[in-house]
Amino acid sequence: MCGIVGAVSCDRNILPILITGLKNLEYRGYDSAGIAYLKNNKINIFKTSGKVSKLENKLNKSDYSNIGIAHTRWATHGKANNVNAHPHRVNHVTIVHNGIIENYEEIKEMLREENYSFKSSTDTEVACALLNYYLEKFNDIDKTIKAFISKVIGSYAILIFIDNDLDNLYVIKKESPLVIGVSNNINIISSDIRAILKYTNKYYILDDFEYAKVSSNEVIIKNSNGDVLNKELHTINIKDNDNSKGHYKHFMLKEIMEQKDTIYKTIESYIKDGITSLKALPDLTKYKDITIVGCGTAYHACLVAKYLFEEVTNMRCNVYLASEFRYQNNFLSKDTLTIFISQSGETADTIAALKLVKSKNYPTLGIVNVENSTMSYLVDTCLYTKAGCEIAVASTKAYTAQVALLSVLVLSHGLRNKSISKEKVLKVIDEFNNIEKLITPLLNNRKIWKSIAKNIYKEEDIFYIGRGLDYYLSMEGALKLKEISYIHSEAYAAGELKHGTISLIKKNTPVISSATNPNLNLKTISNLKEVLARGAIIYLLCDDNYKDDNFTIINIPKASLFIKPILVIIPYQLIAYYTANLKGTDIDKPKNLAKSVTVE
Ligand code: AGP
Repeated sequence: MCGIVGAVSCDRNILPILITGLKNLEYRGYDSAGIAYLKNNKINIFKTSGKVSKLENKLNKSDYSNIGIAHTRWATHGKANNVNAHPHRVNHVTIVHNGIIENYEEIKEMLREENYSFKSSTDTEVACALLNYYLEKFNDIDKTIKAFISKVIGSYAILIFIDNDLDNLYVIKKESPLVIGVSNNINIISSDIRAILKYTNKYYILDDFEYAKVSSNEVIIKNSNGDVLNKELHTINIKDNDNSKGHYKHFMLKEIMEQKDTIYKTIESYIKDGITSLKALPDLTKYKDITIVGCGTAYHACLVAKYLFEEVTNMRCNVYLASEFRYQNNFLSKDTLTIFISQSGETADTIAALKLVKSKNYPTLGIVNVENSTMSYLVDTCLYTKAGCEIAVASTKAYTAQVALLSVLVLSHGLRNKSISKEKVLKVIDEFNNIEKLITPLLNNRKIWKSIAKNIYKEEDIFYIGRGLDYYLSMEGALKLKEISYIHSEAYAAGELKHGTISLIKKNTPVISSATNPNLNLKTISNLKEVLARGAIIYLLCDDNYKDDNFTIINIPKASLFIKPILVIIPYQLIAYYTANLKGTDIDKPKNLAKSVTVE
């Protein structure tokens, strides 16, 4: 998952636009970067390992160009170094690429027989050589692109710069996200709308196997047969895409704090008129059961939904990791609704799972945060979370927005299948209407989260445990901590620890837990005492008056099952944040990660 950006203008220096664009795309990958631009009628290429700022320092500040392409990388094939960094150039063709060419080895062998040699270990250099091969064979860009699309297996958004055609950029798209921003005398191509928002809010979206010729004042989009397409010109609401950190040290902290607004904003339209509004949500009573699919944090939201659907509405719910879903029998039928959850709407594993279900013509529903993302178009019905632009790689406000929307979906289903009384529904709606009052004290109680962080940030192993819903929440708590602090942290069903993993508990091992289910809490407490007996240090979030001098107990507000996940996870987000902050890690761009994993 990389970021690509290209720009063509007739009256502006596009170099600062490309660099700013790359900085807006660094969340997609940031282990190396590069740029290619026209100067003195020649394509100049600069590449470096490391972040965009390092590339920026390599450039001549006085350079001026009207056309160029740039790239920020998350390595898939080959180390993060100058040779493997994009752009790649082979003879007359220079490209940047986001995606994976799955049959690149076969193509590489074919090209070697045509006397091509390769400097890097990337699939992208092979793609570049293939384009050059076809261009020399056909001397026609349409035929070249058509042949490329037929030959290549995999995912790609490729920006192409050709030596004898220096007024235009070409772009081909299959599965990897791509938008073309259009404005007066400048057109900007990017993996993500964020890289173009500063210059325009009007853009085209390419679909799979479509390609475009982009000049400074024209965008011609064609399908793989070479037919010119009349694509819709979209407009985005810029204010929802605030890319600034404001007064916060990190985007992650800003996005955690924004939850006092984003949760309610996500569900407002479904609860503002009470029970009447709930009926605007899809009717799930026509389905026999539900399957929910996601990755990472989105998967953890799937688990919360499973718990609520099954415990509250007696709707059976299977949950799968998207990367596993496709390779096992998942018992789908036309009577099963499959829900796909994704912040970016571009996660390759989740899209692949979605395409599998669509191939069987089974019903699909998407819960997506990024408007006009690939998934939002592929699902039968898309419910948008309204968390706004989430830039920190570690997902926080998108998760709570997903959980809130799923909770309201369960509520509406419970109303329809009469598993929940109207009184109960109204009570939960009232809780959601007051969600800000419930979470603000948690957001403001930084002292306790900072003190826990101070106690744990030097540890090597940390365990999160819980039962039922608290177990699913511990999975998200552990992921938040490990992905930004680099501390090994694992989540365990509290009752499972004693079946082996407890052997890892030693003196002062931190064990963080939540106990929010009156029917299970005593058992969770017993499990905590088992690890306490082996030297663990216990931090327990609970919503009743449990007291134990051996534990650090943090009380959280009492609330219904629909709200509890949010009240538990916000402390876990803040503990992770302050721990990572003490460790001095790159919280918004943790090592090895990217915000949107657009490769399988
Ligand atoms: C979450 O903190 C991680 N960055 C990661 O697990 C993420 O949730 C996962 O890659 C799924 O992304 P998506 O929601 O955009 O599909």
